[in-house]
Amino acid sequence: MRIRPCIWVLGLVLATSCAQELDVDKQVQYCQQQVKRSLNELSPIDYQQTPRNIGPDETHWNLKNAKTPEEWCSGFFPGILWMCGETEAAARYTQELGFLAYRPAYDHDLGFQMIGSFLKGWQYIDQHGGDLATKEHYRQVLLAAADTLATLFNPRVGTILSWPRNVGMFGGHNTIMDNMINLELLFWADQQQTGDDGSGVGRLKRIAISHADTTMAYHFRPDATINHVAVYDSITGRHLYNCNHQGYDDNSLWSRGQAWAIYGYTMVYRYTRDSKYLDFVQKVTDVMLGLLPDDHIPYWDMRDPAIPNTYRDASAAAIIASALIELSGYVEPQKADHYLKEAKAMLTTLSSEQYQCRDRKPAFLMHSVGNMPAGSEIDASINYADYYYIEALLRLKDYQNK
Ligand code: GLY
Repeated sequence: MRIRPCIWVLGLVLATSCAQELDVDKQVQYCQQQVKRSLNELSPIDYQQTPRNIGPDETHWNLKNAKTPEEWCSGFFPGILWMCGETEAAARYTQELGFLAYRPAYDHDLGFQMIGSFLKGWQYIDQHGGDLATKEHYRQVLLAAADTLATLFNPRVGTILSWPRNVGMFGGHNTIMDNMINLELLFWADQQQTGDDGSGVGRLKRIAISHADTTMAYHFRPDATINHVAVYDSITGRHLYNCNHQGYDDNSLWSRGQAWAIYGYTMVYRYTRDSKYLDFVQKVTDVMLGLLPDDHIPYWDMRDPAIPNTYRDASAAAIIASALIELSGYVEPQKADHYLKEAKAMLTTLSSEQYQCRDRKPAFLMHSVGNMPAGSEIDASINYADYYYIEALLRLKDYQNK
């Protein structure tokens, strides 16, 4: 008689925890189905037009011209296709972006464009096998792109110039936090040139390290939150000031910017194994995790005075979740457990009815914010949210299969 309530409570606890357990395979299959649906809806496909976003009241992808360096998101859809195993379409979209490596750098986004397309393609062939000539071709394009990106490096400042077109507007050499992601192209290319064990340091790795160090010194506030933009004197290299661009204001905390920092410094640690980056990225991560609401999805800006009556940013959650899974592999066990739990909590909410598009639209996720101050892509499905969501799911799947 006395044991019965205990069994009932235990059953309830188990049932609740099972219900909350994220079924990673199921979510990966969901993404693969959505991708097939996108490819069907886009047919006959014009590979020069990249699916970019779906507005909150829309049901089909809005396409952007990928044959221009101005479309910073052109690498994400090919990246999604590589990650979902749609290799034929992935290769076609990827090939269209090769021209970017061989023209003068338009801005720092060359890294985003190449990492999603050619690097994901190279990694796919490396991991799953495929045409070796294609793999070598991708490698050559990536090496050329890394050299092109490096032309934006100003050694007096120590960073890559993010927006050459905005030097006049900002009154100097501008670097934005997003730029941290583009360093992966330099690290990867350097590793290709100096040896696979990563122990060598060539010109491109020196540039990437300089950028990471200068950004660490000047881009963050004492509480480890980011400023979106840092401006430097192009001639003397002196740091001039920091300011906002895509967040609420100069003192706020733009969530995707913090997400880029978490992802970026985790990746810098991957390529350098220098503990100063590991220590630093934990501070940048912990301050953000400490601010998250109960469902673990960041508001678009964590210091928007309208919270809780403002928009969430699913893209920031997806980027952080992906980074946390990698970061959990570098830290001591208790911290690793904490980061993995946080990543799973984010992915569980993102995988819910509230965030997944399901049969409503062909993207994976709803509720991202692109650029609030510019009034663009607010509460939308955006291709980079999907890209980092599937990347995070695949990283978690790999972790669980170890
Ligand atoms: N510029 C990249 C972003 O909006 O996050």
